[in-house]
Amino acid sequence: MRNAYISGTGSYVPENVVTNDDLNAIYGLETDDAWIQKRTGIKARRYADVGVRTSDLALIASRHAIEAAGLQPSDIGMILFASLSQDHVFPGGGCYLQEKLGLCEGAGATFAPAMDIRTQCSGFVYGLGTAAAMVQSGAVEHVLLVGAELHSAGLDLTKRGRTVAALFGDGAGAVVVSATDEDRGIRYWKCGADGRHADQLAQKIWDTAQRPFIPTDAEGNGIVKPEMLWANMNGRLVFKNAVERMSFGLIAACQDQGITGEDIDLYCFHQANMRINQYVAQTLGIPEEKLVHNIDRYGNTTAATIPLLLDEAARDGTLKPGMKVACVAFGSGFTWGAAIIDW
Ligand code: ACO
Repeated sequence: MRNAYISGTGSYVPENVVTNDDLNAIYGLETDDAWIQKRTGIKARRYADVGVRTSDLALIASRHAIEAAGLQPSDIGMILFASLSQDHVFPGGGCYLQEKLGLCEGAGATFAPAMDIRTQCSGFVYGLGTAAAMVQSGAVEHVLLVGAELHSAGLDLTKRGRTVAALFGDGAGAVVVSATDEDRGIRYWKCGADGRHADQLAQKIWDTAQRPFIPTDAEGNGIVKPEMLWANMNGRLVFKNAVERMSFGLIAACQDQGITGEDIDLYCFHQANMRINQYVAQTLGIPEEKLVHNIDRYGNTTAATIPLLLDEAARDGTLKPGMKVACVAFGSGFTWGAAIIDW
């Protein structure tokens, strides 16, 4: 039986630590540490320097994951890049990452396919399912799956945008999904979407129903109104749906696998909000010691949260071979997904 397992992990966060107080003192955001911590559990996040792009963060995380897998970039048969904050509108960030990994020139020129995943905070779990299917089918031996976000370039740091701006940070996490005959790996994945709520957490910028899609002034410069430029979020609806979808996703995963929550050694929840995760954990009776977090240090890094958690846990020894791991995510779309991995 050809299984798909995670052969290597990697991650990267920019050096610039921005505390809640820094948001106010340095970036001028009308906010305070107590408000943010009480509602979200976030203490700090990382912001990349001007000049750095999302694919640059992804590159460092990818190199670490490929090295941890004992591979060379040229061994990668496919790149899956999950992000809602790609370098540009198009082409997808996967192509930029592929070139930066050296897959287009010299001895390592494999011209490996590169594909983007646009399911926001659920992107890593969607990618895990896609990578597992590609490997298990025999189509690819090693898939590089990256979640990377550069939110700091797209935050409205005025009072108008503070509910959203306080939540997000920059970072990248990557895994290599490889084929194995061993009895381990990605046992289960299931994703879902509810497009009825697509507008409830969105950053639109343009609208193809308009002509042109971005209004222009007399000189032809695009004019984007603030309500289109910045992300909008119905925070309470997100909270309610996240709790429900993540809880039911985990229950369905356990039922499918014929296990209970007690059989799971480590839970990697998407890091949207510590309060969402505490609510899910309390509802399902998951003890604190089985959960890993990074939202307090990095904020919400959307598609990067789970691979960042996996890499940190693998490197600090929390995550050991033989452990059963549950990953669950919820995000804009709305989208969600859960996965069970025998590490
Ligand atoms: N600092 C200080 N005050 C703030 C801030 C801030 N950063 N942001 C908002 N406020 C103020 C508002 O202006 C408002 O003031 P007012 O009463 O004088 O008008 C007050 O706080 C309450 O604002 P609400 O928007 O109603 O705040 P709410 O209690 O709903 O909390 C929050 C907002 C924390 C986002 C909550 O809705 C939530 O946790 N939702 C879940 C959404 C989430 O976690 N999203 C993450 C991204 S999506 C994902 O990854 C799945």
